Amino acid sequence: MWEVFEPHKPSSKLQALGEERLKKGEVAVLLLAGGQGTRLGSQYLSKGLYPIGSFSHKTLFALFAEKVKAASFKWGCSLQAAIMTSPLNDKAIRDHFEENDYFGLSQEQISFFPQPLMPFLDINGKELSEKGPCGNGVAIYELFASDIGRKWRASGVRYFTTILIDNPLADPFSSELIGFHAEGDLSALVTQRRDLREKVGIYVKDAGRVRVCEYMEFPEGEWPLHTTANLSQFCFSLDFAEQEHKKALPLHHIPKGGVIKREYFIIDFVERAACFKALDSSRTWTFAPLKNSVGDDSIESVKQALQKRDRLRWRELFLVDVENIFFELSPRFYYPDDELLARYKGQEPPNNSYIE
Ligand code: UD1
Repeated sequence: MWEVFEPHKPSSKLQALGEERLKKGEVAVLLLAGGQGTRLGSQYLSKGLYPIGSFSHKTLFALFAEKVKAASFKWGCSLQAAIMTSPLNDKAIRDHFEENDYFGLSQEQISFFPQPLMPFLDINGKELSEKGPCGNGVAIYELFASDIGRKWRASGVRYFTTILIDNPLADPFSSELIGFHAEGDLSALVTQRRDLREKVGIYVKDAGRVRVCEYMEFPEGEWPLHTTANLSQFCFSLDFAEQEHKKALPLHHIPKGGVIKREYFIIDFVERAACFKALDSSRTWTFAPLKNSVGDDSIESVKQALQKRDRLRWRELFLVDVENIFFELSPRFYYPDDELLARYKGQEPPNNSYIE
């Protein structure tokens, strides 16, 4: 049976090394946003178009782009970003960026590429005419097929992170993760499972190798006790990704809504890495996924998680207790510069407001 996989504990030394890499412009981010968001069941073509900001009503894409902008300003270089869309939502996503002047990013800084669709199967394995995106694992192949990998290399990028559009707590330029990622192949930021029924992939050691087992592949009626959850927040060495991108990934068959979907998973790169490491993180700071319309991982719970994190952040930066105040912080507060720190020093945030 599986052995337990133990992630590394965070340490304050990692941040400095990560910051060096960021200042040199060696880090890019790949945002995975080709999914259909069927569990959320919204009218939005992509979950990223959902206006999640409690006061700003900013979309998940706006928050992502503003993080890239704020981190670029903080580290003094134009950090590169790419977004994987699908033919079903590509136009809606590009239009959203265009209508909002790319949220302040330069057009050289951000690239978009659609992933392919794959026909669904019926329960007897016969191909149907209906199609859907073929899973987030195809991103690494498409990154190079679309020439973005080459462009990144030419501009000095050596590493890139991956994040999922449905997790607004994800920091695309986590200096801890980037510092933790030594010259190896692949590293991951992980957290501990909320409970055994949480629908997340889990890290296990299987015949001596680390891998992620997806929740839909757990043996029938069994909820494994392993507690390290996958966030699909990775740091890839560009060399490793390029070397692996043409090798076939396993195709997973997922029964959903009366049909079988076929998908490649990004988590399958974990097993392939000669050097793989994972860094543990606190869920409060790193993980609040938007998956469902109600209940766990819903719009309401994600908004609460964002508020909780913003209150902690305010206390951390300005040493003021803000327990009963409602507010939303702009992504700039997560890559703060001296001017921002001086502006709010020792102050309470205004109630019911968006703070830039
Ligand atoms: C995913 C992870 C799971 C993790 C969980 C945390 C994978 C394979 N699984 O599962 O291990 O615990 O998130 O929230 O990553 N996407 C594409 N193209 C696709 C399908 C999905 O880009 O064809 C993107 C989505 O837009 C989204 C992300 O991948 O950003 C995750 O998709 P989703 O189907 O919601 O993943 P989960 O099943 O929740």
